[in-house]
Amino acid sequence: MFDPNKRPDTMKRINTPELAKAFIDEQIKALRTQIGDKKVLLALSGGVDSSVVAALLIKAVGQQLVCVHVNHGLLRKGEPEQVIKVFRDEMNANLIYVDAVDRFLDKLAGVDEPERKRKIIGAEFIEVFAEEAAKLDGISFLAQGTIYPDILESDGIKSHHNVGGLPKELNFELVEPVKLLYKDEVRVVGKELGLPDGMVYRQPFPGPGLGVRCVGAITRDRLEAVRESDAILREEFAKNGLEGKVWQYFTVVPDFKSTGITDGKRTYDWPVVIRAVNTVDAVTAECAELDFKMMQKIVARITSEVKGVNRVLWDITPKPSATIEWE
Ligand code: XMP
Repeated sequence: MFDPNKRPDTMKRINTPELAKAFIDEQIKALRTQIGDKKVLLALSGGVDSSVVAALLIKAVGQQLVCVHVNHGLLRKGEPEQVIKVFRDEMNANLIYVDAVDRFLDKLAGVDEPERKRKIIGAEFIEVFAEEAAKLDGISFLAQGTIYPDILESDGIKSHHNVGGLPKELNFELVEPVKLLYKDEVRVVGKELGLPDGMVYRQPFPGPGLGVRCVGAITRDRLEAVRESDAILREEFAKNGLEGKVWQYFTVVPDFKSTGITDGKRTYDWPVVIRAVNTVDAVTAECAELDFKMMQKIVARITSEVKGVNRVLWDITPKPSATIEWE
């Protein structure tokens, strides 16, 4: 029997611009047939999957798509700005930007247990998104960036962690144009749709964002130290041609301090932990071997440019015994 959630054996792996173009043309037709003149809602995080779905829907139904980008305060530096620039300014999308930073950080204040933090972020996301949906009239469909691995491992990372998961209260018919694609195929399609490389080749980023990298109870100043150090790390990796080569790299700021010295004065500040790993499936992972001079440069930049930080630790532990993230 035909199963819409099963990839047909005859379906070719999309690995060339020509195959991507054929997929896009076919999806545009299918989306127009499914949606007609109705409206579609999409939670646009700026990740590869939701961005590709947004770009496809913009091509297929234009202004009938309503994108909602929720800034929960746990995004990386420059991310909300990039979403607005790419989708609203360049693709002329109907984009609602929700600044929910205070709301999330207030809810998270004092919460130090990792799973509790994840639950709060997930639940709050659904609430904010549902509130935005309730303000809109005449929405018939909910678009989602489900990809094939999400279907195959229905209790895989995305379905049980992701804050962008289906808000169950929102009872709309689903639109899932990339649900039969693997991640590498989504990237080829994204490239063909004209999305910027920074979006298409983006490293995996957890739904709860920087929240799980600001260890323990999140404070605004320590969260800023995570965001700023992450931006420096990404900038230096990009300069050294490592973007898209190292699987995942990020910084963590633990909730303890240590002594240091700057300009002859003693300091008592946080350390920044750097994690850069390679893996095939995130089940096991190895620390990436990197040029020592580059590592020293990153340490120097973080200790001199990030407020409240006097020390950098490089985490070279494989998974197992450590997980990739710190929480
Ligand atoms: P761990 O830390 O379990 O991470 O070795 C494996 C991969 O999963 C990502 N990760 C998450 N992704 N929501 C997500 O969407 C989460 O809560 C979450 N926790 C971990 C992590 O970044 C790594 O790529």
